[in-house]
Amino acid sequence: MRAALVTGGSSGIGLEIARALGSEGYAVTLSARRPDKLAHAAAGLRDADMDIHAVPADMAIEDDVTALARAHGDRYGRLDVLVNNAGVGVGGAIEGHPTPKLDLQLAVNLRAVYLMTRECIPLLRAAGAEHGKALIVNMSSVTGKVGEPGLAAYSATKAALIGFTQAAQGELAGAGIQATALCPGFVDTAMSDWVEGVSKEEMIKPADIAEAVLFLLRTSPACRVPEIEFARAGGRL
Ligand SMILES: NC(=O)c1ccc[n+]([C@@H]2O[C@H](COP(=O)([O-])OP(=O)(O)OC[C@H]3O[C@@H](n4cnc5c(N)ncnc54)[C@H](OP(=O)(O)O)[C@@H]3O)[C@@H](O)[C@H]2O)c1
Repeated sequence: MRAALVTGGSSGIGLEIARALGSEGYAVTLSARRPDKLAHAAAGLRDADMDIHAVPADMAIEDDVTALARAHGDRYGRLDVLVNNAGVGVGGAIEGHPTPKLDLQLAVNLRAVYLMTRECIPLLRAAGAEHGKALIVNMSSVTGKVGEPGLAAYSATKAALIGFTQAAQGELAGAGIQATALCPGFVDTAMSDWVEGVSKEEMIKPADIAEAVLFLLRTSPACRVPEIEFARAGGRL
């Protein structure tokens, strides 16, 4: 059985990606910050006969990140798909933006992805050597393509993720590991509840993003997809 690790897996996009991977027969380590919410999400997936290992971790804390990677390895002994999805967005102008809010976004959206990838490379290398298509999926955003006023810190972390994904790919290409950055516009999740002027019905669905992860897995080892941008059907991009 192949195995995946999904961060930010207790709701929204991460939960749908975990569901998609579980339905394809992957064993999944599901992680998020709040234990109760995570346990509830994991129980829902197990009800659908999926093999789910729930590991709470605050991605802003390095020890939690390393413990998460270790917990996954101890449970499944292999890692075919790493989905670095956990993220946080705090709106507000640069002028007057509180430093702790900047630091939180840097820590969860960027630093944790670097650390998590670093910790998981040994298992990903083993999977890549076995079948030539171990996958790292990093959840960026359209704000990483074009910076969004009022979301400067968030946009900067998401742009950095694209650079990180490209650099990681360069380092790991010969190891049968592929890295992809996903760049969605507004997705219908709790994170977009604050949005005015775009209804939830008009937003991209979490299942659309999950479908893209399955697509990445179905392409041959000869084919690499560096980045996917998702635009709303009614949007301008
Ligand atoms: N929704 C959008 O419009 C949109 C568009 C582009 C990109 N994205 C990106 O998609 C990813 C998933 O977001 P979503 O839209 O699915 O939102 P969501 O439903 O709010 O999910 C966010 C997930 O990240 C987890 N998380 C947040 N802070 C964490 C921390 N410090 N440590 C560990 N886990 C943490 C949450 O767990 P807790 O609830 O326990 O904190 C939750 O599982 C994010 O990286 C986001 O930036 C979203």
